[in-house]
Formats: sequence, structure tokens, C-alpha cells
Amino acid sequence: MIERTFVALKPDAIKRKLMGKIIQRFEDKGFNIVEMKMILLDDIILEQYYGEHKGKDFYDNLVSFMKSGSILAMVIEGEDAIKNVRTMVGATKPWEAEMGTIRGDYGLSTPNNIIHASDSLESAKREINLFFKN
Ligand code: CMP
Repeated sequence: MIERTFVALKPDAIKRKLMGKIIQRFEDKGFNIVEMKMILLDDIILEQYYGEHKGKDFYDNLVSFMKSGSILAMVIEGEDAIKNVRTMVGATKPWEAEMGTIRGDYGLSTPNNIIHASDSLESAKREINLFFKN
């Protein structure tokens, strides 16, 4: 089924100039990028974006990292995009992610794990709405 998913390249990916390479992977795989913008996040949007992680021990560290530079927010469309993009992204902890995945190839630590992708249809809808409505 053709789906849309939300992807964000995190500040570490932008600073390391990995944007082009990562976008290329999604295009090479056959996905369409249907929306794209660079944003500097603030506390208000981060609270909504990462609400589910509030109170966890890594939350403050995560929020300050996500404010350390712009992110590239994208909507990616294609066959089973939610599952297939997550497969390309790899495990949350880059040192556990398989080589050949984006985090496996470019990441080494958290919270700076290069990229985010929605984990379900509900998250995709919520995140697309949060970043691309208005
Ligand atoms: P992501 O899955 O995109 O969204 C939640 C983020 O929290 C995750 O990527 C990491 O950037 C960060 N994160 C998750 N677990 C940890 C952890 N144990 N320590 C630090 N950061 C984490």
C-alpha cells in the first residue's frame, strides 16, 4: 500500500553534511520526497514531538541536542513507506544497527543517531501534521 511517513535528519546529520547522501538513498530505493523543509526547533514543538519521552532519563539531553542546529523535515511517500523506511534507518542505537542501514553506516551514539522515521501510521499522521500543517 502506498503510504506517507515522516522523516527528520537530525542536527548531527546536517552538521556532518550527510543530507545529500541520505536523501540519495531514499531516492535510489524508489521513494518520492513530497515535502521538505529545514527547521530550527524550539521547546514548544519539541514538547509535542517528544511528549512520549518526557520524564525519561535521556529526555533533557535529547531536547538540547535537537535544538543544537536545524533539522531537515521530510515527508516520504512510497510502497509500505513506514515499515520500509524504518528498515533503511536501522536500530535506534546506532552501535546495534546493521551495516547497510543509515544509522549503522553513519552513527555511533545517542541521542545523535542521525535520523528519525515514524514508527506507525498513527505517529506518521501526528508527525506530518505537527511539522507540515500551517
Ligand atoms: P528516535 O527514535 O528518532 O526518537 C527518540 C530519540 O531519543 C531517539 O531517536 C534517540 O535520538 C533518543 N534516544 C533514545 N534512547 C536513548 C537513550 N537511551 N539515550 C539517549 N538518547 C536516546
